[in-house]
Amino acid sequence: MELRERIEKANYEYHVLDTPTIADEAYDALMRELQELEAKHPELVMPDSPTQRVGAPASNRFAPVEHARPMLSLANAFDETELRAFDQRVRKGLGREDVGYVCELKIDGLAINLTYEDGKFVQGATRGDGFVGEDVTANLRTIKSIPLTFREKVPGRVDVRGEVYLPTASFEATNRERAERGEPLFANPRNAAAGAVRQLDPSATSKRNLAMWSYSAAGLDVKSQHELLERLRELGVRTNPHWKPAKDVDEVLAFIAAWRDKRHDLDYGTDGVVVKVDRIEDQERLGFVSRSPKWAIAFKFPAEQATTTVEDIKVYVGRTGVFTPVAWLAPVIVGGTTVRRATLHNLDEVRRLDVRVGDRVVIQRAGDVIPEVVRVEHEARSKDQTYPEFAMPERCPECGGAVEHAEGEVAYRCANPECPAKTGQRIGHFVGRGGFDIEGMGWSLITQLQERGIVTNPADVFFITKEQLLELDRFAEKSATNIYDRIQKARRRPLGRMLNALGMPHVGETTADDLAHWLAERLPKDATFADVLGILRQATADELQAIDGVGEVVARGISEYFARPEEQRFLERLAEAELRPVPPAPRTVASGPFAGKTVVFTGTLERRSREEAEALVRSLGGKTTSSVSAKTDLLVAGPNAGSKLAKAHQLGVKVVDEATFDAMLR
Ligand code: IVH
Repeated sequence: MELRERIEKANYEYHVLDTPTIADEAYDALMRELQELEAKHPELVMPDSPTQRVGAPASNRFAPVEHARPMLSLANAFDETELRAFDQRVRKGLGREDVGYVCELKIDGLAINLTYEDGKFVQGATRGDGFVGEDVTANLRTIKSIPLTFREKVPGRVDVRGEVYLPTASFEATNRERAERGEPLFANPRNAAAGAVRQLDPSATSKRNLAMWSYSAAGLDVKSQHELLERLRELGVRTNPHWKPAKDVDEVLAFIAAWRDKRHDLDYGTDGVVVKVDRIEDQERLGFVSRSPKWAIAFKFPAEQATTTVEDIKVYVGRTGVFTPVAWLAPVIVGGTTVRRATLHNLDEVRRLDVRVGDRVVIQRAGDVIPEVVRVEHEARSKDQTYPEFAMPERCPECGGAVEHAEGEVAYRCANPECPAKTGQRIGHFVGRGGFDIEGMGWSLITQLQERGIVTNPADVFFITKEQLLELDRFAEKSATNIYDRIQKARRRPLGRMLNALGMPHVGETTADDLAHWLAERLPKDATFADVLGILRQATADELQAIDGVGEVVARGISEYFARPEEQRFLERLAEAELRPVPPAPRTVASGPFAGKTVVFTGTLERRSREEAEALVRSLGGKTTSSVSAKTDLLVAGPNAGSKLAKAHQLGVKVVDEATFDAMLR
């Protein structure tokens, strides 16, 4: 057998059948052999070679991909009554009593579409808004449970859909790493998987342990959902083994009952059961209502709750100095993991719950991992114990600095601009993955650098010398060189990341990206970050507000940020640091019905929200405005349209309804 085939077979057995036939070392040896062979004969390297799963070139952004069929969502059932009602609707709709179902686990990941042409993986996209997703082909190629070729010839186009997920252990490891680096934790495996799939650099995706379960496909000749799942497996596409046919709703309920607890033994997250009418012919007869099929439903497992005691309420100081009260709990197992802490968000929430040290509390983890306090068992308070009311500290718990609290605002914050906790968090954010992405810069290193006065503001990171690193605890030549080299590499990062790293008020990754696109059009060739800061400093709030995605609050936040006396030293140091941002590629789509067109929406949209519709147009290179003028190219009018419609007729602007808009999207 050819080397490539042997590797693909081993991949299939390991990742799809979950029954490896060769040892890991033997697999690695085969892989090395193939790599060496291909290095000698580059002309033999095929895009679907197993070696091509890693190291594809980094892209700057994701191109929009229009789905051939929209990616829908499912209606939910939260209890037996709702599930029985679904079953009744199905039987009524089909006009018969015997309806066969297939029950599948609902995987907590993110929905992906894989397109195969003549059995070869050609494109992978995220769900996006259901109509247009993002092209993440290069990243998906690194996921070993996604076959690059089917195991049989299948002519034409096949769209496979499924869920990309991060196994629980990898999810927890990711969060541990993020905590160490001072980055915010992912709330659930789904967010973590989405973060990994949307990495800009495919080799970063390949480091994550992502996997995929597929559950649907278009373009295969099958008559039922169960046949489809079997067919996918034959083709080498990984399907979750825990599906089961059910002849009626009682069998469905039995499946749900069986998995309610058993799901915690799986090494991936599930948040429910998806119930599907088995026969495709029946599915087609039942059809859809708004954006969900009438032939399927997601039964959601109830949130897991537990009761425990509050041992302490501590206050954490965040990057902007805001105090967050956190309940320290007597450890308790909820839904398979031990919970020790729950965020109480702010003082208002503490008062609303009236939670005090010593209280018995009910805590809950929904699909999410960050637990919350649902309620306090006030009736369980004992007379022999005092329950001190929680108060915000009068001094910063970290630096003893004064506390700032604006009348009418929820937040309390440390007013000391030099608070080491605040600075530490800022540095963590600055070097974190959403910012300059300096691997290995964790809390212990940041603290040491702060304690020795080497870094007093985040920009100082770029002036650290190798000698300074060598003086730190547990640093030797090799580790110092490693960190030093990574810092040097971080001088070149996508512009959006650099802007996000600044930590401007109200500017997160998305807004930073919007700013980056606006700046890219104004920057000289080979611009430095100093040029970027210069433009932002000079922009007026009005100019900033005109940027797509920037509103009044954000614009004001940015202007105020550049005027703050305490930021000046940081901004000057940053300008001196010789940073060379990589500008984003232009967003505009060159062709298509919306490219370069100005579109206005009016009346009630029935298939999507106004915001979604506008985002769709923008993602396809169009502009959206709120009023009709001579510059308007198209008015999309739903029912109850008013003056805009009249104006469009008056000006001779083209008018279409939502169904036509849909057709144009396709
Ligand atoms: S079928 C027409 N099956 O749940 C919709 N979805 O709430 C077809 N999901 O967007 C979806 N496991 O991301 C289906 N076994 C499964 C699933 C599943 C997880 C996700 C999927 C979908 C969401 C719907």
